[in-house]
Amino acid sequence: MSGVDLSVELCGVRLRNPFVLAAGVLGTSAALLERVARAGAAAVTSKSCGLLPRLGHPNPTVIPWEGGLINAVGLANPGATAMVAILREAKARCAPLGVPVVASVFGDVAEAFGEVARVLEEAEPDFYEVNISCPNVAAEFGSPFAADPVQAAAATAAVRQVTRRPIIVKLSANVADVRAVARAVVDAGADALAAINTLGPGMLIDIRARAPVLANGVGGLSGPAIRPVAVRCVYELSATVSVPIIGMGGVSSGEDAVEMIMAGATAVGVGSAFYYRGMDVLNAMVAEMAAFMDEQGFARVEEMRGLAHGV
Ligand SMILES: Cc1cc2nc3c(=O)[nH]c(=O)nc-3n(C[C@H](O)[C@H](O)[C@H](O)COP(=O)(O)O)c2cc1C
Repeated sequence: MSGVDLSVELCGVRLRNPFVLAAGVLGTSAALLERVARAGAAAVTSKSCGLLPRLGHPNPTVIPWEGGLINAVGLANPGATAMVAILREAKARCAPLGVPVVASVFGDVAEAFGEVARVLEEAEPDFYEVNISCPNVAAEFGSPFAADPVQAAAATAAVRQVTRRPIIVKLSANVADVRAVARAVVDAGADALAAINTLGPGMLIDIRARAPVLANGVGGLSGPAIRPVAVRCVYELSATVSVPIIGMGGVSSGEDAVEMIMAGATAVGVGSAFYYRGMDVLNAMVAEMAAFMDEQGFARVEEMRGLAHGV
């Protein structure tokens, strides 16, 4: 391979390449997190965790369609106490590989985000990701915290109060102005942003079954269909706040990842692409990004960041 340097720095932590496993995709066990780390991820994110165990929505919960995936997993997770053991083991498996572990947390009220993080502190995750943006639990939780700058800031502040570890806040594109939410969470103590969560909710109908394809009826969209929305959000965010951004949403190739970086992302999250390109997708994307950089004369990822904004 060429001599380009793919490493990036996220909140003072050096990542060997820009690729981060997105939350909820292959992050349910320590063994899976290690497997993704061995398959090229520079950081891995665990499944979002709440205070108590949740079964999530009934099957089917994830369906591929021509634009990507539609899912209504519904934040199925084993609860914070059980997650401590998973994260501890994940850290033990991933730290020797130089791969940090991001613990994703959610809550039903703002204070609950802090309570979950307080429990997870015992596992010493390298980062927290505050998931204020899941579109699949609106029936229970009401609109996501990410829909309102005040609520988004309250959830962020609740985590900030219990930890000194870097906090990534995960935003939604389902808002009138993502920049207002970003400013609010950065003021409340966010060290980085992740954007975007799944878009929607959306619905697909099986016309022969005469019913929605998902048992839950509606679900969040991910994969290529949402990439232009994600790129626009990252572009707007990077022009608004100075904290680093993990850009995600439909990134399926090394060149898609370059697009995110040129929009202003520091790192790039990958989720749905595992479904259509398999477990080796990140190694492939690393090679694709390196080939692009070689072709275009970039020596470091940093040189590409924000280029689409002009000078
Ligand atoms: C099956 C599935 C489960 C997900 N679960 C979570 C989750 O638990 N927490 C979260 O913050 N995002 C979750 N997401 C959203 C992803 O982390 C990511 O933000 C989104 O899918 C866009 O990236 P992608 O197009 O690369 O998948 C999930 C996505 C999928 C497809």
